[in-house]
Amino acid sequence: MPGLLSSPVCLTVIWFLSWSLRSCSSAQIWTDEVSDVQYGRLESNVTLACGKSQIRTPVVWYHNRSAVLPRHQVTSDGRLVLLHADQSAQGNYSCYNDSGLLLHSVKLRLGHPPGLLSISCQVPNHSFVRCSWEEHVKTFLPAKYNASFKGTGLEWRPCIVNVAIKHCDVELPAFWQTFHTLRITQTNDLGSETTYARFKLHELLKPNPPESVSVKEQDGFPKKLVISWNIPSSWPVGDAFPLMFHVRYRPHGSMYWSEIYSSDSEVVVLDALAGHVHQVQVRARDDVNSESQWSEWTPMFFGRPWAAYTTPDPVEDPDDFYTFNTTPETPTENPRDSTSDDEGNVGLMILLVSFSVVILTTVLSLIFIVWLRQRRRDHATIQERASGQDEVHANLM
Ligand SMILES: *[C@@H]1O[C@H](CO)[C@@H](O)[C@H](O)[C@H]1NC(C)=O
Ligand SMILES: *[C@@H]1O[C@H](CO)[C@@H](O)[C@H](O)[C@H]1NC(C)=O
Ligand SMILES: *[C@@H]1O[C@H](CO)[C@@H](O)[C@H](O)[C@H]1NC(C)=O
Ligand SMILES: *[C@@H]1O[C@H](CO)[C@@H](O)[C@H](O)[C@H]1NC(C)=O
Ligand SMILES: *[C@@H]1O[C@H](CO)[C@@H](O)[C@H](O)[C@H]1NC(C)=O
Repeated sequence: MPGLLSSPVCLTVIWFLSWSLRSCSSAQIWTDEVSDVQYGRLESNVTLACGKSQIRTPVVWYHNRSAVLPRHQVTSDGRLVLLHADQSAQGNYSCYNDSGLLLHSVKLRLGHPPGLLSISCQVPNHSFVRCSWEEHVKTFLPAKYNASFKGTGLEWRPCIVNVAIKHCDVELPAFWQTFHTLRITQTNDLGSETTYARFKLHELLKPNPPESVSVKEQDGFPKKLVISWNIPSSWPVGDAFPLMFHVRYRPHGSMYWSEIYSSDSEVVVLDALAGHVHQVQVRARDDVNSESQWSEWTPMFFGRPWAAYTTPDPVEDPDDFYTFNTTPETPTENPRDSTSDDEGNVGLMILLVSFSVVILTTVLSLIFIVWLRQRRRDHATIQERASGQDEVHANLM
């Protein structure tokens, strides 16, 4: 018997049987499913045919397996006309003949053909352009985009599309050209539309904000702050594209900023308000191209000039403790959370320390008392060896 089971003929038969069963069952599922998708315009009359051939017998239509249909008419040849179809008219439609046999089913999706797009482009350095777009009118339907880009008098080049995030990227645009044009064609099952946008790259050039800002005190200088930062990581390193930086600072709580412009990545403030925490922000711009844009400001950074007295106790002033870390005030980093965490840790530390102090004091006092008694007993033993011994023993008990 095992010989028979493992014989090639038998295996082939088993394989064939399982294969035909599987294909049979998947065919079964396939006929149950709605494989056709039909697209229609919202707020229009949408006609669904009951299969390809003309049908004379009366038919019954179902929507999402329910006999309740949106506002409609059924034509004499069995077609269903949905009147002024809205979103709820989407779904699966099936038509049956009068003996209950399924003739056809179709999935209906409703939306709008593409309209013009609103396009905006970001230029974070001289070798990269990212354009993103939004639909003026929502189409509600999946779309494809074909985007291309060119400088005046040059060839169209593809702009590489990311459909999910609705943007496209161009590397190494011809930056020396004054004008550039982006062309995006949006296509869905109801139509297609091409939008053109024309712009000047050198006016759109806008670096990302500087990074790693630090605000430091200098020992012995109560009015001095040293502010430094890194150029944005998306800006090329080197002297080819110099940046101009704009620094602003003010004592925490003041309305008025003091400002410094610098082409270095560090400035020294000599007029800080002694003893006060200061807020600091930095932004950057291409130093050569005066038509380009300033970056956004960095998040707020904090620092306090050196002071003769000791640094404040972090427990008494958690805000100051936090600002001493010169952490940016951004929600992304959640400095508040870490502050409260630190507060919690400090509280725990204090509790532990006080607890150990109490324990230590108790133990020490106990030892001291025992030692004292021992001494007194020794004393007594020496002085009143004969009479006092019993009494001292009783005391110690
Ligand atoms: C419509 O048909 C598809 C494919 O058979 C199915 O996945 C879907 O659940 C159906 N929708 C409704 C609302 O019946
Ligand atoms: C939709 O059909 C109804 C009834 O046949 C008709 O009155 C109406 O004008 C049609 N609407 C459109 C937009 O074609
Ligand atoms: C039918 O199902 C589709 C999803 O397949 C849904 O969008 C639509 O609202 C449903 N309509 C009704 C009337 O149940
Ligand atoms: C996109 O447009 C370009 C230029 O018109 C064309 O050559 C290319 O075939 C299009 N690509 C797609 C996927 O439609
Ligand atoms: C320009 O910016 C893009 C996007 O941030 C970045 O991927 C690219 O590396 C940058 N180019 C240079 C030369 O820094």
